[in-house]
Amino acid sequence: MARAKKVVLAYSGGVDTSVCIPYLMNEWGVEQVVALAVDLGQGEDLEAVRQKGLRSGAVQAIVQDAREEFVADYAFTALRANALYEGRYPLATALARPLIARLLVQCAKAVGADAVAHGCTGKGNDQVRFDVSIAALNPRLKVLAPAREWGMSREETIAYGERHGIPAPVTKKSPYSFDFNLLGRSIECGSLEDPWLEPPEEIYAMTRAIHDTPAEPTYVEIEFDRGVPVAIDGKGMDAVRLVTELNRLAGDHGVGRIDMVENRLVGIKSREIYECPAGVLLILAHQALEALTLPREVSSYKRGMEDTYAQMVYNGLWYSPLRGALDSFIDFTQRTVTGTVRVRLQRGNAVVVGRKSPYSLYDADLATYSGGDAFDHRAAEGFIYVWGLPTRVWAQVKRS
Ligand code: ARG
Repeated sequence: MARAKKVVLAYSGGVDTSVCIPYLMNEWGVEQVVALAVDLGQGEDLEAVRQKGLRSGAVQAIVQDAREEFVADYAFTALRANALYEGRYPLATALARPLIARLLVQCAKAVGADAVAHGCTGKGNDQVRFDVSIAALNPRLKVLAPAREWGMSREETIAYGERHGIPAPVTKKSPYSFDFNLLGRSIECGSLEDPWLEPPEEIYAMTRAIHDTPAEPTYVEIEFDRGVPVAIDGKGMDAVRLVTELNRLAGDHGVGRIDMVENRLVGIKSREIYECPAGVLLILAHQALEALTLPREVSSYKRGMEDTYAQMVYNGLWYSPLRGALDSFIDFTQRTVTGTVRVRLQRGNAVVVGRKSPYSLYDADLATYSGGDAFDHRAAEGFIYVWGLPTRVWAQVKRS
């Protein structure tokens, strides 16, 4: 029994997703495969990818430019939450999946497919993100994951492809696995699997090594409107251009390299290297602006939920009711997160050196509460008496 008649496949042009096409047709009885390649700014020749999809046996191959949507609706939404998984990873790969899932679902509807497919294996987070996101958007749509079931080694996969007219990768096979989009690069495998070994310089593409960075600093001013970055050095620009520009600026100064051992949702610890120049810089700047503009309690409460938010993104729950609810909260907080942050980039460091905002709570002249200068010393005494009362009472009766 065929698992589906017509399938839309998330297609990258790599070995696994290419082999998925003949595999779905020959082993699982699928009649037609539509290959969907999504442009997230990975900088590849996507027309070549499209052609490869057709040569691999797809009845139709589509390239969809989703760069603007990716940055504006996914990356910047997570930025407003200062979302860093396990305190460090700006979630570049994780944020791309729900968007690709949405485009798969949309495409399946448009071409009349009864299933969608992806090339994820059974060990990673991405399969979870795809499956759960697709289920959230269309719970009746079937999801096929051939690479999770086929049990072929890399060599066997290549050989299977060759039998079906898919050329083996021509370039010398890199030992690393890369995932790349506008928000950053994720690199794993090869020598990186030993968490004791320093990553070789060759894996990096967006950031310079410290010894190659200029000695002179670059100062950059990032302007935010309601928590969304809108301009660099006074020049307004669209989301894609802004992130591209900051990747270049920060990357040139060696900012944004992350080397971490992280906890995958499936219970495995993995060593991953990230390059996220714009992501790291933007979160740093955004946090600085929040420090200036959010009241203490809002700031503290928001910080408390940011880790939950990052976990939800990482764990494939982008389209969950909780994330929606958290976004409503964040939306409210960002109404005053408008202003400019000045950052110095130098030798691998991004340091906030200035911040200003029309909603600054720091500037007594502009703030809605006043009295900073005229702080009443006696009021402090009374405050401390009341504030410390429970502690004092406790100290009087406590047993040693
Ligand atoms: N660990 C990251 C995540 O789960 C990246 C996964 C993809 N990495 C890769 N090198 N292909 O989001």
